[in-house]
Amino acid sequence: MATGYQVIARRWRPKQFHEVVGQDHITRTLENAIRQQRIAHAYLFVGPRGTGKTTTARIFAKALNCEGGPRVSPDDNSPICQAIMDGSCMDVIEIDGASNNSVEQIRQLREDCQYSPSQCSFKIYIIDEVHMLSVGAFNALLKTLEEPPSHVKFIFATTQAEKILPTIVSRCQRFEFRPISEEKICGQLSLIAKGEKIEIDDTALKSIARLANGGMRDAQSTLDQLISFCGKSITEKDVLEVYGLASRKEIHHLASLLAQGDYPKILAAVDHLADTGKDLYRILIDLQTYLRELLIHGIRSGGETNRLGLPLTVESLMRMNDALHRGKEDVKMGLSQTVNFEVTLLRAVEQSRTRSIDSLIKELSGMAKKAPQSPAGKKITGPAGKQGSSPPAPPARETTESTANPGPRNRETPETVEKAVQNLPKELRGAMDELFRVEYTHVESLPHQNISPGKAG
Ligand SMILES: Nc1ncnc2c1ncn2[C@@H]1O[C@H](COP(=O)(O)OP(=O)(O)OP(=O)(O)O)[C@@H](O)[C@H]1O
Ligand SMILES: [Mg+2]
Repeated sequence: MATGYQVIARRWRPKQFHEVVGQDHITRTLENAIRQQRIAHAYLFVGPRGTGKTTTARIFAKALNCEGGPRVSPDDNSPICQAIMDGSCMDVIEIDGASNNSVEQIRQLREDCQYSPSQCSFKIYIIDEVHMLSVGAFNALLKTLEEPPSHVKFIFATTQAEKILPTIVSRCQRFEFRPISEEKICGQLSLIAKGEKIEIDDTALKSIARLANGGMRDAQSTLDQLISFCGKSITEKDVLEVYGLASRKEIHHLASLLAQGDYPKILAAVDHLADTGKDLYRILIDLQTYLRELLIHGIRSGGETNRLGLPLTVESLMRMNDALHRGKEDVKMGLSQTVNFEVTLLRAVEQSRTRSIDSLIKELSGMAKKAPQSPAGKKITGPAGKQGSSPPAPPARETTESTANPGPRNRETPETVEKAVQNLPKELRGAMDELFRVEYTHVESLPHQNISPGKAG
């Protein structure tokens, strides 16, 4: 049975510039171009899927061709605007670049453009997925694109600008569509829900927006699907269940376990997530986004954050996030998603902890710098000095000088530092060895008796 149902994404397609969400930098420029009558002959709209490229191209075509146009706010009730919107206007020609990409088709287009528009001021060609045109087709278009007849305008749209010949790009005005912020997607979804008489939690809206990754069409399709699943009332639980997402609380909990380095609890949490059918790849993305929030909080609070229940430095959060990022592909492509997910989390813990080794190394170098000077004014050096251009002073002499002239005593002695290194968990020393082999060797070989003023001699 045909129902004639039209999806939300189509019914809620913006009809005017001011309705396009999150692309103000583009709509403002186009509106100004219309007001100032500075309309170029070719435009290139670039950006991720479902962010408003085709929509804006249609609004722009309407603005140029409407009665009394070009006008910033075309009258949607006029016959020409109606015809443009339902695709029956002869002078606004939408071409799918994916299926009309041959040289012959572009030659035909070149011939057609010579004829005047039948009912409007301009003949406007909107070519979607323009990156799919063959090289021959692009070349056949070059001359026309350089100097089209004055009644012809081109609007190209693509998600992959890098595949378009630079000679084509340079003949167009280029507009970059941005991923739409979660906040703006929530705002638009809330408007749609009101219009559709759907009850939906704010947290549910946020989860849908999170899933959409900046694409408004994806967000609207998700909402459509959820309405089919839940009816007129949608909660966060529904969204999490249908799409296998973890709640913010669960993400926070997992991040806390990583910060504590509690391996048994991490393994138990992974089992639980896998058993409840969660999308582990998505959880990694959400975990990264969450750690990024903490990172920003840490930077703003002077280099450290306590939001996970214990002090975490920005550096260790960065290492943790980096490890999650590196594990993402494995989790996405790997045969055993759960195992890869588990390993990625454990690696994140280990990497975040290597920071303490790093700081030890820095501390040791600091101590080496503070070490007493030889009479010649030369600092007593550790292995760093060995690698440097000037040869280190003879050890026997340094020892004597150090005894004669003890410098200010550091709070950490080489013994305490070395003990701290020895006391680190075995796994951590392993990770350190792998990640910081050079520095590690450096630390191990530091002649402690030489760099400690109190101990020397
Ligand atoms: N910026 C936006 N503001 C409001 N709605 C939008 C926006 N972008 C997309 N939409 C919604 O998504 C639907 C699809 O948008 P559109 O066709 O313009 O995307 P697109 O950028 O051309 O995507 P694609 O690259 O997949 O062709 C629209 O009908 C509209 O409902
Ligand atoms: Mg499109």
